[in-house]
Amino acid sequence: MTDWKKSDWRNKPRVQMPDYTDAAALAAVEEKLASYPPLVFAGEARRLRAELADVSRGDAFLLQGGDCAESFAAFQADPIRDTFKVMLQMAMVLTYGAKVPVVKVGRMAGQFAKPRSADTETIDGVELPSYRGDIINELDFTPEARIPNPEKMLQAYTQAAGTLNLLRAFSTGGYADVHQVHGWTLGFTGAPEAEKYRAIAERISDTLDFMEAAGLTSDQNHELKTVDFYTSHEALLLEYEEALTRLDSTSGKWLAGSGHMIWIGDRTRQPDGAHVEFCSGVQNPIGLKCGPTMTSGHLKALMAKLNPENEAGRLTLIARFGAGTVGEHLPRLIKAVEEEGAKVVWTCDPMHGNTIKSSSGYKTRPFESVLREVREFFGVHNAEGTIPGGVHFEMTGADVTECTGGVRAVTDEDLSARYHTACDPRLNASQSLELAFLVAEELSARRNKVKAAQSA
Ligand code: PEP
Ligand code: CO
Repeated sequence: MTDWKKSDWRNKPRVQMPDYTDAAALAAVEEKLASYPPLVFAGEARRLRAELADVSRGDAFLLQGGDCAESFAAFQADPIRDTFKVMLQMAMVLTYGAKVPVVKVGRMAGQFAKPRSADTETIDGVELPSYRGDIINELDFTPEARIPNPEKMLQAYTQAAGTLNLLRAFSTGGYADVHQVHGWTLGFTGAPEAEKYRAIAERISDTLDFMEAAGLTSDQNHELKTVDFYTSHEALLLEYEEALTRLDSTSGKWLAGSGHMIWIGDRTRQPDGAHVEFCSGVQNPIGLKCGPTMTSGHLKALMAKLNPENEAGRLTLIARFGAGTVGEHLPRLIKAVEEEGAKVVWTCDPMHGNTIKSSSGYKTRPFESVLREVREFFGVHNAEGTIPGGVHFEMTGADVTECTGGVRAVTDEDLSARYHTACDPRLNASQSLELAFLVAEELSARRNKVKAAQSA
């Protein structure tokens, strides 16, 4: 037992958090949230941790994805359903490529608070505080909208509870049946431009037909019609996180009750800072964003602090460097992990290092750069003999035009048509599924290489 307290982060330097002006209003919100039920339960977080331990050994693959920022305005059943649906399709294609189970984790039901590169935003000479996510302030460019309001934490909690409720219902209520999921994928590969993915889809069809013929039907096999789906978000707004933290009576350990997995962003990973302090004391699986400025010294200090017992499944390192620079940064971090004998999951976020301004003025990410970073990530792991455990995408099930490229090509000029993100540009449903097909090819090539090496 440690003497860690959920409020200890308050004694550490904090960055990227709002300064609430009304202390009484903040305290009232914290008190309310602390009395509400947690959104997730310790047994679920432990199960995810065990599944991530499998990922760390190469016995499973991690798919993490969802909005950059969930928004209060877009809180409806359809977008939740559509993102869930495309993640299941991706998971199925990835399972086929990797031949191992895919652990599915949404950036959902809590992904509201955003770190920003600048504290203020200036438009036409007017300077206002930056938008920091719907749990903190509002996107509208007015002085009132940008004032941090603690009451928004209550709305975020309600939205997270509603989202999670729907996800739980979809996971077990027949919607997630493999045959149905594959039927949707056939819809995508039936289109002429996606023809190059049809062969894999047909092989999956054959497999399902064979299973059916052999008597493995959804009616009799629970695994074919239900899925485990977990939630995750960046643990940025620590007042919210602390208020939802509970002591788990089974293990005697603390649990962040806000989501199954929480992560530490690239801007808040100071080893002696508030965010690392908070995450060090809760038993949830922890993600750690690793950007270009992460040194091997930082990483060793962070691993010591966040996973002192070196438990597999506890720590997921989310590499996010930018296409063209993975070879420059990833090897030193892999070396640091190997030197410590640390058990970690390595996953690739090919989004946050690849944001550019398009010629039409929109913030975008070219599909080609996203794919290139994933390929470089696999390449480095293949060369180092370590395990590329997963992928982490900003994506949506909706047909938005925020990232350029893909088989149903989105051009710079198209971006204005359906650019709906509250923060960073997301892959749309077609781009997400296409990426899953391309990652599945990487996984299957890697698997063949490993098998050939074993039999040689
Ligand atoms: C994010 O995942 O939305 C994010 C802000 O990432 P990073 O901390 O890696 O920049
Ligand atoms: Co983002």
